Amino acid sequence: MPATADRADAVEVARGVHWIGAFDPDLRSFDIILRTANGTSYNAYAVRGDAGVAVIDTVKAGFGARFFHRLEAVADYDEISTVVLNHLEPDHSGALPELLRRAPRAQLYVSHQARPMLKGLFDPEEFAGRITGVGTGDTVDLGGRRLEFFNTPYLHWPDTQCTWLEDEGLLFTGDFLGCHYCDTRLFNDAVGDFRFSFDYYYAHIMRPFRAHVRTALDLIEPLLLRTIAPAHGPVLREDPRDYVRRYRALSESGLHRTQVKTLAIFYISAYGATRRMAEAIAAGAESAAGDTESLTGGVRVSLYDIEGSEPHPFVDLIEEADALIFGSPTINGDAVKPVWDLLSSLTMVDVKGKLGAAFGSYGWSGEAVPMIEDRLRRLKLRVPVQGVKARLAPTPDEFLACHELGREIALHLLGRAEARVIDMASLA
Ligand code: FEO
Repeated sequence: MPATADRADAVEVARGVHWIGAFDPDLRSFDIILRTANGTSYNAYAVRGDAGVAVIDTVKAGFGARFFHRLEAVADYDEISTVVLNHLEPDHSGALPELLRRAPRAQLYVSHQARPMLKGLFDPEEFAGRITGVGTGDTVDLGGRRLEFFNTPYLHWPDTQCTWLEDEGLLFTGDFLGCHYCDTRLFNDAVGDFRFSFDYYYAHIMRPFRAHVRTALDLIEPLLLRTIAPAHGPVLREDPRDYVRRYRALSESGLHRTQVKTLAIFYISAYGATRRMAEAIAAGAESAAGDTESLTGGVRVSLYDIEGSEPHPFVDLIEEADALIFGSPTINGDAVKPVWDLLSSLTMVDVKGKLGAAFGSYGWSGEAVPMIEDRLRRLKLRVPVQGVKARLAPTPDEFLACHELGREIALHLLGRAEARVIDMASLA
């Protein structure tokens, strides 16, 4: 059977649990930013208990017919007592309003964070009295089995949660532990090799929230997991803990370094002026770092000319760095494209709270420095030191200002910025 052929049946994934989602083999980009070489799937599930049926997640708008067809194969609408949305992004909530209309008995369970977001999907008045907010430890009884909720925000929106079916050791994880990989063989032990897709999905969806990933892992690692049922990609029934361990490794990489603080300076230079400013900043930072023979307790300063690389290899460095300084000449009233390309990659990682600064030479206006600073602030970096601009070739005073910029940033990293000795004579 071709790996991308659709098929109409619901698929049993555990006792009384069916996959009722939809395959989207032709999708080639998701949320604009992700490439999807193998398409994706919108996984939804039906869980049958003695007292009712629960539907976990729905599908993207446009795929509702297949979802309802599969649902109708395993349950009548009057049997549906429970609908759970682990995540409200449209690829999972597209068929939700119609499902609630077709299943008049159903109560909708979403995280507390999701409740106020529902008005973006439908008029809550239409389903008044049928919506319940839940958090970690809350449960829903289906008769003979129950669903338990784990609040796991930012995986990858604030609303996300996981749902646990203990009697089958089955965890419905939403985007978490999923990937964009469409293969109708459905199970991880039957589909093609999707490791690249799993890691790619982590890098683009989960990585910016890796602290939240670790918090969620703390919640789910103690569970006696037999199957992980994500909202995209293969159902993980063979060695599900392998995938949990992979997320643990990815989300903790680089966290066990020594006490060294790291400062990364990225620059690009048309005629060498911005490069020499970068070198002065690096020298200033090292002057504050002190003992460079043993960096323990100090600052490791790294300098990179971004003209020599694509942005991607720098992403790991950016994620691990404690401070980031960007240098760009101003050309046509703007920072240059390679700098913007690198700055755009900052959204792939968690940069909130890192230190940031900017510098660069210019011909007649010098907008690049404040534009970079503005970008850094909007990404929630701290920009404690004003950037340095130099017209054409930097003067000795401007090199001194660069040296001071580097020194100040290093002192902030070392927690010594407040201890600076002010030369009172210079204030006279
Ligand atoms: Fe699959 Fe965040 O949506």
